[in-house]
Amino acid sequence: MFSKRKPLYRFPLIPVSVLVICLSLLFLYQNYVKPDSQFSRLSSASHTPQCSSQALTLGEKFMWYAPHSGFSNQLSEFKNAVVMAGILNRTLVVPPILDHHAVALGSCPKFRVVDPKDIRISVWDHVIELVQSRRYISIAEIIDISSLVSSSLVRVIDLRDFVSIWCGVSLELACVTDTKLQSSVSENLKQCGSLLAGVHGSIEKCIYAVNEDCRTTVWTYHEDGNGDGMLDSFQPDEQLKQKKKIPFIRRRKDVFKTLGHGSEAESASLLAFGTLFSATYKGSELYVDIHESHQNQRFVSLMEKIKLLPFVPEILVAGKEFVKQTIRAPFLCAQLRLLDGQFKNHQKATFQGLKQKLESLSKEGPLPVHIFIMTDLPRDNWPGTCLGDLISDKHNYKVYFLRENDKLIRRAAVKLMSAGHGQRFLSNSDSTIGKKYCSSQRLPDLLLYIEQAVCSYASLGFVGTSGSTIAENIELMRKFGSSSQQ
Ligand SMILES: *[C@@H]1O[C@H](CO)[C@@H](O)[C@H](O)[C@H]1NC(C)=O
Repeated sequence: MFSKRKPLYRFPLIPVSVLVICLSLLFLYQNYVKPDSQFSRLSSASHTPQCSSQALTLGEKFMWYAPHSGFSNQLSEFKNAVVMAGILNRTLVVPPILDHHAVALGSCPKFRVVDPKDIRISVWDHVIELVQSRRYISIAEIIDISSLVSSSLVRVIDLRDFVSIWCGVSLELACVTDTKLQSSVSENLKQCGSLLAGVHGSIEKCIYAVNEDCRTTVWTYHEDGNGDGMLDSFQPDEQLKQKKKIPFIRRRKDVFKTLGHGSEAESASLLAFGTLFSATYKGSELYVDIHESHQNQRFVSLMEKIKLLPFVPEILVAGKEFVKQTIRAPFLCAQLRLLDGQFKNHQKATFQGLKQKLESLSKEGPLPVHIFIMTDLPRDNWPGTCLGDLISDKHNYKVYFLRENDKLIRRAAVKLMSAGHGQRFLSNSDSTIGKKYCSSQRLPDLLLYIEQAVCSYASLGFVGTSGSTIAENIELMRKFGSSSQQ
């Protein structure tokens, strides 16, 4: 069969050369015939988009990054971003909250991650999707950064405002349905996106696209640049190197020395990181290893402030209301992550931890033991599990939980939307054409955040799923007392 087909490919160069000629003609046409567009702010004439003069004349320097995965990951990346922006003295572009599975990174320990450029592209595409589906909500509308901002430890700008100012195009235009407008709009947005994502790499004075990721780099910060360039203690092992032919070597790099004052990146209007996700692995930080052992007072205060970035008051108040009006007794919180990813395989261990805690509580205390449950296991699937047993054992246990459609949750969402925590400079209606295209913004789903708030108030203790970043965040809230802030 294959030998019969072979003759077809005897002159493979003919179609290829035709293609090359066509492309060259197209290229010549674009360069010599088409005049420079006066309208598009990002020059579309050349292959590489350029910064608008408007972006270049802004005195201010900006930084953005590409968040990924679930909310708790996004929150920890946001904290790292705040630190980086503080160190580099750049205004942080505040992203929206991404859908849980919209953007994935891969695995740093396995040296298998998406390139920073590609992850920035996915984030941009997802941002457009969020705008179009009227679900865009800034992380600053959920997480209270007002005290960070008012202490001027860091300057921030909402991504939507940044895009308006820096690209001269409103993200709201993604909602345009008018077919005549649509193509020019989507072209403008695409150009803005490719510039922000660094599709064409760094562009002088305009954007510096960080290409280092956790396969090659661990960011550090020391006043004297100490340790810059040193090998990190975690390297791919021989087996991995041979199996995957990985040439990666992980070096510790001082973020200020590499990207701050006096660096090549300094003059760029926008600094674009990939993900800023980090975690400890084999005693080493995977990507960001910055701690507060510094003399610089500003830096120390900044690190102190980001230990806990609390939820906005509307969320904490709703959590407290549920505790006071519905539970009305000392209670235990159990956070059971049972379905997602790796957690599927540890259901037994997760339930075991809860059982042990409950046994000791029911021996010690008055009955029934009050328990608040937050879990990704849908309510209908509780029968036959430990959760079903708890509910039927009415003598010993009283179980509480929240659902997405509960009045309390919806009311908090309405209040939150009207509170306008988004750190906006331009109002929605200030879009470049002066018209609001994205009508009827949907209410955000606050269930996960209010559940965390409830758990932070649980006076009988907290049982979380080991390895879950949600559990870690709840522990943080309990330790640093977001409850004491209200
Ligand atoms: C930080 O940036 C701001 C605004 O661009 C500037 O006014 C200020 O002097 C900078 N501070 C330092 C220490 O470079």
